[in-house]
Formats: sequence, C-alpha cells, structure tokens
Amino acid sequence: MQSILITGGAGFIGSNFVDYLRKCRPGVEIHVLDALTYAGDPDNLSPRIMDYPDFHFWYGNVCNADLVDRVMQQVDTVIHFAAESHVARSIFDNAVFFQTDVMGTQVIANQVLKHRRRIRRFVHISTSEVYGTALAPVMDENHPLNPLTPYASAKCGADRLVYSYWKTYDIPAVIIRPFNQYGPHQHLEKCVPRFITAALEDEPLTIHGDGSAARDWVYVRDTCAALLAVLEAPLDDVLGQVINLGTGSAVSVAQIAQTILELTSHDESLMQTVPDRPGQVQRHISSTEKAARLLGWRARTDIETGLERTLAWYRENEDWWRRRMWMRNVELTMADGSKVLH
Ligand SMILES: NC(=O)c1ccc[n+]([C@@H]2O[C@H](COP(=O)([O-])OP(=O)(O)OC[C@H]3O[C@@H](n4cnc5c(N)ncnc54)[C@H](O)[C@@H]3O)[C@@H](O)[C@H]2O)c1
Repeated sequence: MQSILITGGAGFIGSNFVDYLRKCRPGVEIHVLDALTYAGDPDNLSPRIMDYPDFHFWYGNVCNADLVDRVMQQVDTVIHFAAESHVARSIFDNAVFFQTDVMGTQVIANQVLKHRRRIRRFVHISTSEVYGTALAPVMDENHPLNPLTPYASAKCGADRLVYSYWKTYDIPAVIIRPFNQYGPHQHLEKCVPRFITAALEDEPLTIHGDGSAARDWVYVRDTCAALLAVLEAPLDDVLGQVINLGTGSAVSVAQIAQTILELTSHDESLMQTVPDRPGQVQRHISSTEKAARLLGWRARTDIETGLERTLAWYRENEDWWRRRMWMRNVELTMADGSKVLH
C-alpha cells in the first residue's frame, strides 16, 4: 500500500483511522474524500495534517462519480467509511441514507472496477446492524441479515452490493462489520458521548427502554488496528470475505451509563428512562473467531479502560463537543403518535 483513499475520513472512525495510519505507516500517502456533512469536521483531523505533502483533502460527495474517478487515479487502496450513520436520524428522515450509503457505495464500487488494474484492495465498512436481532448468543458472519431500521437496511444494501461486485466483476473487495464503536471524536448523537457530555453537565442520562439492550462495544483504536491488519493481510486470505469486528462480550446500555456516572462521581439518580426507539436490537455479541484467524486480531481494550480514555478525551476537548450540544437528540414520532427525543 503506497497511496490510500479514505472516504468519510473527517468523521468519527475515519478520522481516528487517518491518525492511526499516519502514526503506524508514515510513508503512506493519504487522500481523504469527505462531504463534511453535519457529522464530518476537518477539526477531527490533527491540525498539522493539512500541511503534510503526502496528505490530500478532497471536499466532495462520494456520489459524484467524476470526482471519485479523479481521486481513484491517485491511489492503489480504498477504504470506504463515508455514510449517514445514525440510526435514530434514519427513522426521522431516511432518503439521504439510501442516497449516500447505497448509491454512494455503488459509485465507489464502480470506480474501483474502472481502476481495477491499479486498485489492489477495497475495504468496505459495513456494520453489525445488518444482522438485526441476534438469533444466536454469539453472531458469526453467517448470521441471517434482518436489518431493523432504514440505516441498517441501507447499510445492508451496500454490504450486499459490494459482495455482488466481488462475485460478478472480481473486484478486490473485503467487507468489514464492526460492532458498536466508541472513543474520541464521536458525534454527540451517539450513546456513549451523549452520556459522557450529560454527566459532565450534571444533566440526566436518558436511557431508551429499560436499559437492558446489550451491545458488543469496541474501542475505536482497537478497530483501527484491525483495519490496518485487513489492509496488510495476504490478499488471498481476505478477498471476498466478510469479517466481524467485536470483543465477544456484551455490556448493557444501563451498565455503560452506570460506569460513566461512577467515573464522573455521580450516583444513579441521574439516570432517566425514555420510551424505547423503534427497531431497537436487544442483544448483540460478535463472534471473534474469524477476525482472530484471518487477521490475528483481538480487541485489547476492556470497557472500563475504553470509557476512561474516552471520558478523558471529552474532558480535554470541551470546545469540540460544546459546539455540537444542540445536535444531541433527534425527535422521533412513536407508533402511538407521541414525540420522543432520542
Ligand atoms: N459508529 C459506529 O458505532 C459504527 C459501527 C459499525 C459501523 N459503522 C460504520 O462505519 C462508518 C463510519 O462511521 P462513523 O461513526 O465514523 O460515522 P460518522 O457519521 O461519524 O462519519 C461519517 C463521515 O462520512 C462523511 N460523509 C457522509 N456522507 C457523505 C457523502 N455523501 N460523501 C462523502 N462523505 C460523506 C461525513 O461528513 C463524515 O465525515 C460508517 O460506514 C458506519 O456505517 C459505524
């Protein structure tokens, strides 16, 4: 890998990956393509990075085939993060999810096909949300795909689109399904930063339903290490593969809230429940077998350590999150017509 296109590199996981890649592989030329939606911000990238001669920022949309064509002429590797990524927002207004997540991925896949002599690897970032409710205690990559929300179904369409391009056109695709991510630079609409900023403001932590929904939480730096391993694994080991990235255990949303309250010296009286959102997945635990076998990767950061590090980052970066406070919640209309902030 000499030169890589990172779509969505100004978002949460993408910007963490840019930072990780620069530190671990300083010789690799990086091209970020990002439309800077409400979720993207150049401030997520290190302030000095724009001055590096081997860093290039392309402000634009992944649905713009001409632009993607121009960027693809400069790279040998592609990792595709760009997406609309918030479940609740997809329940509120979903057209842009299908536009970006499905049609944007079609543009990227078509351009990989067009430039297939040069592009050696195309890593598509899918999500565990494509599985829907767990039908087995531990979910492996063969678990049925039953997406429960517009976000999940758009991502599912993109995931299968990439798979079909690999089968039909033999593009060098790998599909990655990360489980729930948390860490520095995550938008306040997501659960962990919403809880952290509420606790820092001495405000109630609002929990959907009874808080028993349990997820497999992965600290974003661990995910970055896995993604670098995907880029560097022998091609034959990963080509056409779907790989889950998870820890192999689940922690409930109520437990996450409790840990954050303890870390910020609050008691449980600050916990408040609101009606559950539609399409809530009750329990997700990833199988870790395939990632360990193909990538030699296992998540290393336990949830307490990861939450401590994340909290420390939000404490130190108040300017970053204060600007986003007004976007913490999305108003959803429930089945009975009532409106609830999520
Ligand atoms: N956050 C999670 O827990 C999680 C878990 C599994 C998978 N994922 C997937 O990982 C990827 C990154 O997630 P994230 O949490 O960093 O998302 P994010 O919302 O923080 O960032 C998305 C980035 O994509 C950019 N973007 C959006 N639409 C675009 C477009 N049309 N053209 C170009 N850029 C565009 C945004 O500006 C932003 O920088 C997504 O594909 C998401 O589905 C996320």
